[in-house]
Amino acid sequence: MRLKGKVSVVTGAASGIGRATALVFGREGAKIVLSDVDEKKGAETLEEIKKLGYEAIFVRTDVSKEDEVKLLVQESAEAFGGIDILFNNAGVGNSNVRLADLSVEEWDRVVDINLKGVFLGMKYVIPEMMKRGGGSIINTSSLLGFKGKKYLAPYNASKGGVILLTQNAAVEYGTKGIRVNAVAPGVIDTPIVDQWREDDRIWKAVTTSNALGRVGTPDEIANTVLFLASDESSYITGTSILVDGGALTY
Ligand SMILES: NC(=O)c1ccc[n+]([C@@H]2O[C@H](COP(=O)([O-])OP(=O)(O)OC[C@H]3O[C@@H](n4cnc5c(N)ncnc54)[C@H](O)[C@@H]3O)[C@@H](O)[C@H]2O)c1
Repeated sequence: MRLKGKVSVVTGAASGIGRATALVFGREGAKIVLSDVDEKKGAETLEEIKKLGYEAIFVRTDVSKEDEVKLLVQESAEAFGGIDILFNNAGVGNSNVRLADLSVEEWDRVVDINLKGVFLGMKYVIPEMMKRGGGSIINTSSLLGFKGKKYLAPYNASKGGVILLTQNAAVEYGTKGIRVNAVAPGVIDTPIVDQWREDDRIWKAVTTSNALGRVGTPDEIANTVLFLASDESSYITGTSILVDGGALTY
């Protein structure tokens, strides 16, 4: 078991990449705090995880709300005695409009969840990790944090921001034993990409525009997050690992 006895917090754990990672963390011996804004799907994931015999709780959290993130960290530390791993993963896509037509409300919604949410998670978890002498934080960026794409201004900006925020936290807290990295998925088969699924031609184009010629699975991201969470990556910090089937180089 690669995470035996570790306490992990996973945001956006009710679906897709977060859910798959929570299952992998459990399999590897970690205690898991599942967190999501979606209470119903969160409860379903919790039930599934408990059936497998893993130790877990669910805390409903909107990652864009400071008081809720603060409470998430408090409740996690109280439940399991501290925090070793944070997978700062909750995120949303954006409505597909050109920058000049984008409302300020839509900009704020996406950036508040995808970027401010990552900041808040680190702001409150880092002091908890320092009490334990260290920890590992994994933030979710995206291929679209490396590369601009039409009609995705707030998504591009927020995911690019995650890459540099990751570097910032890595250099500020490395000597405190806290490693901070990001995972940058390409197109992964989860509900967030449903907007492209409706049209067969678009789906084919989106999912095959990479060196491997196929869409990725949530488990393929979860395995990378597991590596970054575990001591196997003990000399890796400040980096953003692309898991995109070779899409950026395609
Ligand atoms: N699937 C992809 O192709 C892809 C590619 C690159 C990056 N990502 C990123 O991966 C992460 C996970 O996405 P996914 O693909 O698993 O999608 P998903 O929609 O399956 O999961 C996202 C989860 O985040 C939760 N969430 C949304 N807003 C929230 C909020 N304010 N507070 C707390 N939880 C909230 C949702 O309820 C959902 O359970 C996101 O950050 C996303 O941007 C996904």
